[in-house]
Amino acid sequence: MSSEVARACALLAGAERVVVFTGAGVSAESGVPTFRGPGGLWKTFRPEQLATPEAFARDPRLVWEWYGWRRDLVAACRPNLAHVALARWMLCRSGVTLVTQNVDDLHERGAAEAALGLLREGRLRAAGARSPDADPEACRAAARDAAAVVPPVRLHGSLFHVRCTRCGERREHRGAVDASAEATLPRCVACGGLLRPDVVWFGEPLPERALEAAFAAAAAAQACLVIGTAGAVQPAAALVDEAAGAGAAVVVVDPGETAYDGMAEVRLLGAAGEVVPAILGGSGA
Ligand code: APR
Repeated sequence: MSSEVARACALLAGAERVVVFTGAGVSAESGVPTFRGPGGLWKTFRPEQLATPEAFARDPRLVWEWYGWRRDLVAACRPNLAHVALARWMLCRSGVTLVTQNVDDLHERGAAEAALGLLREGRLRAAGARSPDADPEACRAAARDAAAVVPPVRLHGSLFHVRCTRCGERREHRGAVDASAEATLPRCVACGGLLRPDVVWFGEPLPERALEAAFAAAAAAQACLVIGTAGAVQPAAALVDEAAGAGAAVVVVDPGETAYDGMAEVRLLGAAGEVVPAILGGSGA
């Protein structure tokens, strides 16, 4: 184990409260494109055409076509070793708040995988879970319930949630979206209004409660683990400054440069799928 990995292990294991802050890089090895790196979404598409309220007002069909493509892409991806190791670590200890900028659901799916593994090892008590071999479906359901105890704080929303542009109703939505014509776009069952992806577009405010929860966790943390984010987009990116300003030791995991390199106590240059299991597996998970 390198000295840097050992230092990160010790810092994270010794911290009573940890805030974990993730960006697109944590899902890169699952096949989900990042935004600003090579092959990043903003290298191929123009955000002002697809990820702003004006774009949606101008051409909701085009915006839904792009989000439908992203939903299908993410649905075909699997959580990677970083998602599972992080969730396993969170399920095996207390005091960790996960804050994500991502709109994919790989943290939640990674948590269900981690919970299933812990159930199989007999290291997780979950209501209703008998032995995995006796009743695999009940076990998977119990794992999903267990995973629900470590939900991420979502600063930018979710690809798999929608919001009505007329009445504001929000709900989960995983079905296929037919964006072939405006008439086939998803509509609100309550009022018939046009539904939009429940994600935060450029120029829109972040969800108040999520922001409050994220910054409260940062202000109270003794360690801040940053995984796979360039730290380029405010106000989310200020979370790490908040944690560092409150005295937290910052650990950064990224193969490239980030806005946090100067404030990092430990800087681990590498892919999340490789580094995260090494620093969390060694911290007692
Ligand atoms: N493991 C860890 N980090 C990785 C990996 C990997 N395998 N591959 C790439 N990275 C790093 C890149 O080096 C970069 O620092 O992930 C980071 C991705 O940065 P961005 O593409 O800018 O994504 P992110 O920081 O999540 O963007 C923040 O910007 O466009 C908005 O709403 C969007 O939530 C997004 C926000």
